Amino acid sequence: MSYQTGIGQRTAVVTGASSLKGIGFHTALRFAQEGWAVAMMDLNQEGLQRALDAVQEQVPDAKLLALPVNVTDPDSVKAAAEQVAASELPPVGALANIAGIPSPASFLELTLDEWHKVIEVNLTGPFLMSQAFVPQMIDGGYGRVVNMSSVTAQHGGGVFSKTSYAAAKAGVLGLTRGMARELAEHGITVNAVAPGVVDTEIRVGSDEETEKALAAAVPLKRQAKPEEIAALFVWLSCEDSAYITGTTQSINGGTYVM
Ligand SMILES: NC(=O)c1ccc[n+]([C@@H]2O[C@H](COP(=O)([O-])OP(=O)(O)OC[C@H]3O[C@@H](n4cnc5c(N)ncnc54)[C@H](O)[C@@H]3O)[C@@H](O)[C@H]2O)c1
Repeated sequence: MSYQTGIGQRTAVVTGASSLKGIGFHTALRFAQEGWAVAMMDLNQEGLQRALDAVQEQVPDAKLLALPVNVTDPDSVKAAAEQVAASELPPVGALANIAGIPSPASFLELTLDEWHKVIEVNLTGPFLMSQAFVPQMIDGGYGRVVNMSSVTAQHGGGVFSKTSYAAAKAGVLGLTRGMARELAEHGITVNAVAPGVVDTEIRVGSDEETEKALAAAVPLKRQAKPEEIAALFVWLSCEDSAYITGTTQSINGGTYVM
């Protein structure tokens, strides 16, 4: 199945794209496989170049750009938006706000610094990125923003994702709903994706036993593959999803159903 935008080639901006095992990398790859140009962004510059090379190897004719960006820094985000606009890539049509960090600190031990950091990366980042790139979508006449939330926003948290992460990812749902209502007049849709446990390396320090236990707790008895989350990001960016906006798309193997 192919997800064409149906409106000519566009650029997808993907944050959190540097880890070859991560959701951002797989989303960039899937966009490229579906014929989109991709601007790949991450804090990790070295990993980003490796990730761009890996996408290019699998999709040799893909138009790609790698930009080191700190999504919490307004100047860095603004510079990235200017660089994309000045580049040879086609107009920006989609923004996948995937960069994020976990927070295993328990509520009673959570420091104010950690609280701020988790909110900054997971919630302020998508806000800054969206504010920087949505004007390019309005100018280009096509726009899709897909924000990364988590099942944690719905059920409150687990081993690696406690209160500050739950608050940030629940904030992403509010951000998504507000943006969806305000940007509808421009034909821009905004949705959130809320995965359950995904087989990536975000759970730093986790061991095999813990990973198996996380999978066993899922009704479908496995973790999601990053490719499965990537496919949802790309589908929410395509022409076929034009009437879906302001929603939370759960993708959790039955962990949280409503
Ligand atoms: N893996 C899971 O189980 C799971 C479940 C639900 C939601 N998520 C969310 O999915 C997203 C991707 O996670 P992943 O599992 O692929 O892990 P990952 O660690 O591979 O991806 C996160 C990426 O964000 C980047 N990043 C962190 N801070 C940044 C900043 N300030 N600016 C730019 N980039 C920054 C990191 O360098 C990293 O490449 C995160 O938002 C995470 O919270 C993950």
